[in-house]
Amino acid sequence: MTGTVGTVPAPVAPLAFDLTGRTAVVTGARRGIGAAIAAALLDHGATVVVCGRDAAQVDAQVEQLGRRGRGKPVGCVGDLTTQAGREQLLRTAGAVDILVNNAGGFTRPVTALQSTADEWDEQIALNLTVPFLLCQAVLPGMVQRRWGRIINIGSVVATAPQPDNAIGYVAAKSGLVGFTRQLAVEVARYGVTANVVNPGTVATEHLLDYFAAADEGVGEESLSSRIPVGRLGRPDEIAAVVPFLASDAGAFTTGAVIDINGGAVTA
Ligand SMILES: NC(=O)c1ccc[n+]([C@@H]2O[C@H](COP(=O)([O-])OP(=O)(O)OC[C@H]3O[C@@H](n4cnc5c(N)ncnc54)[C@H](OP(=O)(O)O)[C@@H]3O)[C@@H](O)[C@H]2O)c1
Repeated sequence: MTGTVGTVPAPVAPLAFDLTGRTAVVTGARRGIGAAIAAALLDHGATVVVCGRDAAQVDAQVEQLGRRGRGKPVGCVGDLTTQAGREQLLRTAGAVDILVNNAGGFTRPVTALQSTADEWDEQIALNLTVPFLLCQAVLPGMVQRRWGRIINIGSVVATAPQPDNAIGYVAAKSGLVGFTRQLAVEVARYGVTANVVNPGTVATEHLLDYFAAADEGVGEESLSSRIPVGRLGRPDEIAAVVPFLASDAGAFTTGAVIDINGGAVTA
């Protein structure tokens, strides 16, 4: 079959994941999944602003990412739960084409019965409110330029509850799905996409912190046994999908929830 199908025109140029000329912000890119996402975006030619709370660690990360030889890493130091931290990030980045809300997590497993209101607020702030505020800040520019990509990093816990988690974190990650789908509908006509990537259990430093804080018996072996692939994921296996979502090839992928979890049906 040749020509067009219905009203859909054939592409005028070959689709690719080339991100040359695009500026990306990756929150929480100092280590773990965020660092792998920053590396993947750099490898596709983007300028990538990496942000964390410790200046020396951010500097070291920028230096290491710079050695990849593609794209341009730029460091930014700040706590994103503060307005000053967010403003610093947005000043450093300038016009943002791609926003990856990756910074997140929780400090200790806590049930609904145990959680204090402060813990709940902290988990909602970092995992849901900060992504919302950053989206709100970059969207006017994206809408004006008729191009933008929002990629929110959620968690398998949004669909597969598990023991030894943090109730506010689960609520926030579940909220991120609804928020992103609604946002996708609101901005679709302006060439802006919004998607969620929900990782399963991934071997990062955060996971080591989690093992230290969790009940005895919770460790790599017990978590791997819940995953059909039979092992934990690697950060690069989550990051692999991000250049596609961030590229022109991802223009029709919006409001999607992409599960990358080794086939886990329970987290
Ligand atoms: N690892 C998993 O198994 C897993 C599973 C499902 C979902 N996820 C999600 O994937 C994302 C990344 O997880 P990860 O395991 O790679 O986490 P991680 O190793 O703990 O890294 C989290 C990053 O977020 C940054 N961060 C934390 N709080 C911040 C704040 N207030 N302001 C600025 N930066 C802050 C940290 O940087 P600094 O410490 O330098 O500030 C760090 O770079 C999170 O959203 C997490 O919920 C992870």
